[in-house]
Amino acid sequence: MIIQQAQRIQQVQEYYFSKKLAEIRQLRAQGKNIINLGIGSPDLAPSNTVIDTLIEGVKQPQNHAYQSYQGVPEFRESIASYTAQTYGVKLDPSKEILPLIGSKEGVMHLMMAFVNPGDKVLVPNPGYPTYSSVAQLLGAEVQAYDLMEENQWKIDFEQLEKLDLDAVKIMWINPLHMPTGKEMSVDEMQKLVQLAKKHGFLLASDNPYSLVLTEKPQSILQVDGAKEVAVELNSLSKSHNMAGWRLGWISGDSEYIQAVLRVKSNMDSGMFLPLQLAAAEALKNPDEWHHERNCIYAKRRKKAESIFSDLDCEVEPNQAGLFVWAKVSDAVKDVTTFVDQLIHEAGVFITPGFVFGSNGSRYLRMSLCNPIEVMDQAHQQLKK
Ligand SMILES: Cc1ncc(COP(=O)(O)O)c(C=O)c1O
Repeated sequence: MIIQQAQRIQQVQEYYFSKKLAEIRQLRAQGKNIINLGIGSPDLAPSNTVIDTLIEGVKQPQNHAYQSYQGVPEFRESIASYTAQTYGVKLDPSKEILPLIGSKEGVMHLMMAFVNPGDKVLVPNPGYPTYSSVAQLLGAEVQAYDLMEENQWKIDFEQLEKLDLDAVKIMWINPLHMPTGKEMSVDEMQKLVQLAKKHGFLLASDNPYSLVLTEKPQSILQVDGAKEVAVELNSLSKSHNMAGWRLGWISGDSEYIQAVLRVKSNMDSGMFLPLQLAAAEALKNPDEWHHERNCIYAKRRKKAESIFSDLDCEVEPNQAGLFVWAKVSDAVKDVTTFVDQLIHEAGVFITPGFVFGSNGSRYLRMSLCNPIEVMDQAHQQLKK
């Protein structure tokens, strides 16, 4: 290559799963049957009304044009009703909600709108790697805050306050502390809002798992006065089995939303109308639909716990979200080698916890996005 790459991409590597999935594809092409228990991409279908709405929408010739940058009113209004019903949070659909192409893209949109080069961005360790990679792409300084097993993976506020929080521009949180599956308490959320107000930073809550095996769906916007300092990303990927559709949203005070719209409207041209109309229907799925899906995930979670137990990994039972997080035994000297052995010797891929930060280095994360029969097959292969 004779053209030099931009400096900003020197800061980041290709996304771990992008590389790993290519490796798995290659092994499969060589005839090896690799079971992927790594990635959190739901294998179940969206509800029938969602699919019917999409099909009907696609048939209409007038539905194939560019769409409004703000998303169609039907989708925004459906998000507002869903947010009110699910979290008890009232939002103005014309000003406080902006549909997005998934929440991963939202991490970029939000930080493009608020982060300058050199700004400090606070990210959880372990946590979703996109927070730090996008911050790095923008030339920001990434500072990790620790989530530790000895503190039940909760935020240690004493430690947090020892950091120079006045220098922080955005703090990323995930209400299930993904990948650990530990639900954040209301008390933690209240303290976070107070801290954000005291130190003047934006609290960005990334909340795509709130309906998956949780006790009660939580939103940072439930906290009194949160809108002053907090915004929330949400998504249909996990909660409505629509990961490949790329649909999500950001909600919060209209001034934050306007800033994100300023970025987004210069970067993309809205989502395909039938997708938005189908998403509006998805958000109306009855509680029973979510309950049935969670019953399937609960069975898979038991299976995942049993697979981990046979791998001598320690698991805290009944974790929330779409994954099970487990600690490898002391006998495992090197987790990278261990994961590679599982792939090459047993034909099973499980995500190593170091992908999520150094505090995950002795852990593995198994996804619940495979039918129980496939998990059974993986279990057999791992026992051999
Ligand atoms: C914590 C977290 N946030 C966001 C996302 C991205 O979800 P979406 O499909 O909405 O972009 C993921 C996906 O795995 C995730 O784990």
